Amino acid sequence: MGWKIFVKRLIPSSILNSLLLTFPFLYHTKIVNFETNIPPNGIRELCSHLDMVLELEGNVIECGSSRCGASVIIANHLRARGYAKSVYACDSFEGFDLDELKRERASGLTIASDTFFTSTSYQYVQAKLAKLGVDDVVVPVKGFFETTLSHIDSDYCYALIDCDFRDSILYCAETIWPRLVGGGRILFDDYTSADFQGARLGIDHFVETYADEIEEHGLLDHLYFVKKVTTYPHPASPRLGEEPIQFPPQIGEG
Ligand SMILES: C[S@@+](CC[C@H](N)C(=O)[O-])C[C@H]1O[C@@H](n2cnc3c(N)ncnc32)[C@H](O)[C@@H]1O
Repeated sequence: MGWKIFVKRLIPSSILNSLLLTFPFLYHTKIVNFETNIPPNGIRELCSHLDMVLELEGNVIECGSSRCGASVIIANHLRARGYAKSVYACDSFEGFDLDELKRERASGLTIASDTFFTSTSYQYVQAKLAKLGVDDVVVPVKGFFETTLSHIDSDYCYALIDCDFRDSILYCAETIWPRLVGGGRILFDDYTSADFQGARLGIDHFVETYADEIEEHGLLDHLYFVKKVTTYPHPASPRLGEEPIQFPPQIGEG
């Protein structure tokens, strides 16, 4: 477990949230770094691979956003570079799917508890994005991936998949893949994680299955990247029967 997650568990989330929202300059500090759980070397990789796709069509999506730290960093990076792309930040905003968590625990792939990543909420990230002035770029999409991803009406040039478990990682990668433009990239967290060993299984399975459509892939210092073949035909429009939903509203709630 990262030390940031450990410290966060010691402070009640209501106190932490109101402290940060009252003093938003704290988000910018090196120690808080917008509350991302991804370490600095991973964030450098995230930004340098983002630079490689800026000229491509399509938006950015993060699957597993928690407190939207990485999404905010991506939004700031896009703005600094002068690119007007949206960043879809997808999460239940209430933690893991507990059935999936049970399966991962039963397979000995994690020892995570039911309360992991439950300190966030849709209301908190909305308030945070507004305080940081990126609510016009980052679009929080609330719900479990199976109920949200296929309804987002967008193509992508870049995806960050950081949702820890084998099945969710595979589901996200396979759902995003047809909407990823040629030359687009997916970055995965947790390939070498001892706490979430299902991640590597999901990523390996994905890379093996889609080998013919992958131009380059491999483990960086922290993240794992996959680049789609540049000549891949432009993604199709939304598939029949999958009505696009404009965001907001929240979906998958209630
Ligand atoms: C490691 S955290 C994400 C950290 C974030 N990327 C960052 O930069 O700090 C993993 C997140 O994935 C979310 N998650 C995992 N499985 C999910 C699923 N099936 N549907 C929606 N969210 C899920 C959890 O709620 C959790 O917030």
